[in-house]
This record gives sequence, C-alpha cells and structure tokens, in this order.
Amino acid sequence: MDSTRRSFIRGIASAGASSVAAVALERTGYLDTATALAQTAPPSDFSAFRAIAASAADAFEVPEGYRARTIIGYGDQVLNEDGTVVTYGYNNDFLAYFPLNGSDEGLLFINHEYPAPFFQHGVTTAAAKTSAQVEIERQSVGNSILHVKRGADGGWSVVSPSRYNRRITGAGPVHEFTGPLADNATYPGIGLAASGSLANCSGGITPWGTALSCEENYQDYIGYGWDQARTGTTDYINGNGGTVGSPAKYGWVCEHNPYDPSFVGRKHTALGRFRHENTAFRALPNKPFVLYMGDDIANGGVYKFVSDLPFRPGRREENLRILTSGKLYIAYWAPQSRRTFDAPGGNLTSPASGTGYWREVQEAELVDTNARIAAAVGAPEFQLHYATNRPEDVEVDEDGTVYIALTNNSTANDTHGSIRRLREAGNDPTAVGVGAQFTWDDFAAGGPTGKADPGQQGFSSPDNIVFDKAGNMWVVTDISSSVLNNPTNPNAYHRNNAVFMVPRTGPNAGVGFRFANMPIEAEGTGPYFTPDEQTLFVNVQHPGEETPTPAKGGVYGNVSTYSSYWPKGNKTTGQNPSTPIPSLVAISKIPPGETPPPGGNVIPTPPPAPGADRTPTRLAFVSAARQNLSSLTGSRGMAFTLRVDEPATLTVTLYGQLTTRKGRRAKPRRLARVTQRVTAPGEVTVRLRPSAALRVLLRRERAVPASLAVTAADAAGNKATRTKRLSFRR
Ligand code: FEO
Ligand code: CA
Ligand code: CA
Repeated sequence: MDSTRRSFIRGIASAGASSVAAVALERTGYLDTATALAQTAPPSDFSAFRAIAASAADAFEVPEGYRARTIIGYGDQVLNEDGTVVTYGYNNDFLAYFPLNGSDEGLLFINHEYPAPFFQHGVTTAAAKTSAQVEIERQSVGNSILHVKRGADGGWSVVSPSRYNRRITGAGPVHEFTGPLADNATYPGIGLAASGSLANCSGGITPWGTALSCEENYQDYIGYGWDQARTGTTDYINGNGGTVGSPAKYGWVCEHNPYDPSFVGRKHTALGRFRHENTAFRALPNKPFVLYMGDDIANGGVYKFVSDLPFRPGRREENLRILTSGKLYIAYWAPQSRRTFDAPGGNLTSPASGTGYWREVQEAELVDTNARIAAAVGAPEFQLHYATNRPEDVEVDEDGTVYIALTNNSTANDTHGSIRRLREAGNDPTAVGVGAQFTWDDFAAGGPTGKADPGQQGFSSPDNIVFDKAGNMWVVTDISSSVLNNPTNPNAYHRNNAVFMVPRTGPNAGVGFRFANMPIEAEGTGPYFTPDEQTLFVNVQHPGEETPTPAKGGVYGNVSTYSSYWPKGNKTTGQNPSTPIPSLVAISKIPPGETPPPGGNVIPTPPPAPGADRTPTRLAFVSAARQNLSSLTGSRGMAFTLRVDEPATLTVTLYGQLTTRKGRRAKPRRLARVTQRVTAPGEVTVRLRPSAALRVLLRRERAVPASLAVTAADAAGNKATRTKRLSFRR
C-alpha cells in the first residue's frame, strides 16, 4: 500500500508545474493565479486545481484539496415510502441531478448499463444460468431514481424512505412506444409496449424536467440467456419481424419523469433505433425542439431530431409530446467523415475541418437506422461521408456549438479519438438539407502530448462531456479495459481511465488537465455538477471487469483472484480484498481553512500508517457563553471557551430556533459558523457572530433555544464532535 501512496504523493509533487496557472506561466512568462485563470475563464470551484499524475493503482484519486466519497454502490438498498426495497443497480453510467431544493437536495436519475454475471452470481455461460440468476441480472439494469441530500459537512446521502426512490429495470415496469413505429404492422417486433429498459448507457435531460435514457448495446443482451423459458417473455430475443439477434423492443431513447413516480416510461421511435449513447438538446422558445445524438458503434453516424411541435417554455404537458413526432437527420461530412491515420497511433491522413449538411432519415430507416441508411446510400458512400470514429457523448455549448466525443476507431487507425465541434448554418439548430451547410473542426485531439508534466500528458478515448459555468469542458475517458495498461499498446502512457478538465479559451485551450483517476479496469461515467458547482458527481463503472477473462483467471467467490477490490479495498496495495462494486462518487472542494483529512482525496482511504494517531481529539466545554441575546447581536459576537488535548481544526456551528410570524418556534437554522485552527493543546476561545441580517431578526426575539456543535479534526483526520444546548434570553 505504502509504495502506491508514496508514488501518488510524489506524482502530485512533480506535477507541480501542472496547474492551470503554471501552464499560463509557461506561455505568458508570469505566474499570477487570478490572472492566469482569468485568461482561461472565470474560475469555478473546480477549475483551479493542481493536476494529478497518471496512475495504474486500484484507487479513485482526486487532487489534494478535494474530497471524494462513495454515496451508493451496486446492491445497496434504500426504501420507498411505501416500504418497497430499492436496490441500486449494476454498472452505473448516465446521471443527472434534478433539484428539489436548489443544490442541497434533489433527485439523481441514474442509468445501469449492463450486468456482470461473474460478480453477480458466478455463471458466465448463458445456457448454464438458472431463472433466478437471470432475474438477478434483469433487476440490475435500467435506472435508479434516488432522493439525495447534502449534509452540513458537504457530504451526500440518500434520503430513505422517500416517495421518490424507485427502480426501473430490465423486467419492468412496462414502457410504452410512441411515434411512427409504435404499434405499426410493418414493424411487428415493436408493438405497443416493452418489458422495461436495458443497455442504458448515457442520456440527457429535457428543459421540461424529464430524463432521457439511451439504450445502447442492446445486441449484447442476446448473449445473456434472457429467453422465454427463464423470463416468461420473448421481448429480449424478439427481433423485428421475428429475426432473432436484434431485439426490436430495445435500442431506443426512453423518457422518464423523475419527479412523478407514476409516470410510464416512453420509448420514442421517432428518434431512431441505434446504439444510442446520449442526447443533447437545443431549445429556442416557440421553435422546433432539436435533439443531437450519436450512434456509438465504430463507423456510426451523428444524428439530430427536429420536432414537429414547437417548444413552449412552461407548458409541460404540451412539451411531453415533443419527442413523439418530427424528423430525424444524419450528418453528412465533407470532405470526409472519419479521422484516419496511416497506422495505429500514427500520422493523421485526413483533414481536421470541413463542412457538411443534415440528410433526412426516412421512416423505413428508423428501425435499424445505421444499417438501413448504409444500405440506402451504399457502403462506400456511407463510409466516406457518414461514418465517424464512434460518437460517444454529444453536448451543446451555450453558444449553440455542438461538441462530439469521437472516442476511437480501430478501422480508421484512430487509437486516441478527438473532440469535434460543429457549428450550424446561421447558428440555426433547425437548419437541414444540402443547402444549409454546417462547418466542423476537430477541437481537441486525444493522444500523448509529449509533455513531461505528469498532469498534462494528454487524454485518450474521450467519452462523456460536461461543461462548467466557467466554460471549461470536463471529459471522462474510456480506454477499453482489455487494452488498459498494456505496455505494448499506444494507450499505455495514459494508465487508468481518468477525468480531465479542458479549458476552451485562453492560453490553455485544448490542454487536458488530469483531475481524477479511476480504479483498475474502470471508466468514469456521467459527470454532472450540482447547479452551484460545489459537487461533481461521477459514476465508476465496471471496476475489475477483466477478472473473468481467461488471462486474468478470476475464480468466483475467491476475492483475492479479482483484478480490482474497489471501493472497499485496493488491489494494488493489498488493502481489504473484496468484490469490486460499481459506485456513485461525489467530489467536493474542501472549504478554505478546513484541514483535509489525510487520504480524503483517495477512495478507498488508505489505512493509517503503523503508529499513527488513531485517537480523536478530546474536547471539553470550559465556559459556555453568557447566554443573553445581546452577546449574539452585539458587535463582538458571542465568546466561549473550549479545551482540546492536541492540535486540531475546530468547526463550531451555532443553531437556533427563531420565532415564526405566527409566533411558533421555527425549525433550527444555522446562526453562525466559524472554523479555527488550534496549534497547541489547551484552552481556546472561539467567537461566533451571526450575519447582519440574522442580527436584525435576533433583536426581535425574547428567547432563542439554541445548540452549539463543535467538531474537532486532528492532523490524522480523526474527528470528534460535541454538542451543547443553550438558551439565549434578554
Ligand atoms: Fe456505453 Fe458508449 O458507452
Ligand atoms: Ca459512454
Ligand atoms: Ca463508453
């Protein structure tokens, strides 16, 4: 364990020149954090970090000064208010935060992409699975809707029970089809309804408050043995018109309302059926609604849907019909659609910019969009002008520019991928047809930069993208687990998959700064900021997924043979051998003045070194405050004295119950908080002074019941908390 921990610290130390500011220094000749950041964009809480080095360790790592914690993982259970047990699914991917109370409380809508039979029950051969084993798999994919809340210390937890907590799985509830192919005799495999949802990769949100979940690699499910004998339905093997091998009920974009537990999921056939990665909208009031999408298959296309109905802000019932009718278009790229190279990791042989237009997709092409368009235009034409290097995420910037993560494509020798940018003709999202040409260019290229600085050696295989308010792009990478850390692979420099921040303007435009490392054989998915950008959620998908391959030789039930122990253990250091668990992680910045606990930026937290301090600070109240209201409303604030037995960082919070207009006691609210460092054992005096606005309110009170909470964090990160009841009177 120690060597990895040490090398990680060394990595950070040597990555010193790797902060955003330092790169500005390289290019501008002076170092001033504020100036350097201003040259990029206004800093967000997350944009001013010291980039970390690449790592092959079995740990989730973020820069020092940030805190990372798991919130929930596969198999964890919470409750609905009606008593239903809600079990978190496997391989979490897309996530979106739907506010209930700003950035402090909301709903997380999460996708679970595919099961892992080996880790779930040990049987990887479809024919050998029992019905019960198949049921475990069916229940583990689909979506989770979780009610989450941020605590006083910035950490997140699931509110349980809650009326919002629920699951959508591969087994149900039933989804209904909408659009031209629903209940259409020409496409008998589709019908009116489907058993649940599966292959839920990434997704998107709509401006009317729904979530879109994208069914991606539906074809893989043919191999899981979800047949009629074991599931009671032919939905999973039922191809269009009875063709086994392509279950027509899957491969769609599904719409859900996280706020409404009774909402019936909708599969929108107007959006086409392909390996849907995600969706990104552009909505102009009273204009057709536009949804961009990518087909995540090597040589898949980029699409957009233009609705028949206009988007009407605030008219939710009308907007809920928007995705049921409209036209789908595929991007035609000139001079050619694919980035091509003379060899894997070799020289670029294609232009890095060009023009293009949106070609209409015919109704008869929707059911198997990619293959039918290729058949209609001919394979060579499709390959030259429509095929791209596997579109993963598509995102729309505030100015309307569309960014597309083209992750990689071995058939084009594109090992590292790129992020392409598309600007619509006249910046009009509804522009279509050969007469309305868009322009495109490859904005950021994957691959090694050749820079020695460990924090900016370059990303590879971009996947999901998110923008922060300062305009920086955040990118997660998805190098296939089967080639990760293979020394002969051109990706080897990258080590584990990671999260990068890429400024889009200023001297650092296009530079990837490494912000987080994933554990062994995992990819990070679904990055999403709370509206206040104090939390970045990231899902960790498929840690240890190579375990059952013959080369890794994992033995079910013998955890020491598993290739990852994350998040409860760390295979690299031998810490706590355990089954790897796909999990949801929340990252927050540690507030100024607060001492970060050692290892708080790493999951799992490394165990304390032998002989380390494991005893929390002993805390005692010496003098409680003079409990009169004038001390609270006065100019110096209220003072009280504590005793501590070792150096510590104290966080002192005063809560009080004011009087409501109706003369009742309101719920306790925070009146004041102070953080104070104590450098030596002994007595310490702390002063608390409510804000001016609160002091005005307090002057109206006759008596205020209150409580004082003191948390002491010692240098080793051990925490102790004491509380004391107080009563302030005139
Ligand atoms: Fe499921 Fe395209 O990643
Ligand atoms: Ca993806
Ligand atoms: Ca992926």
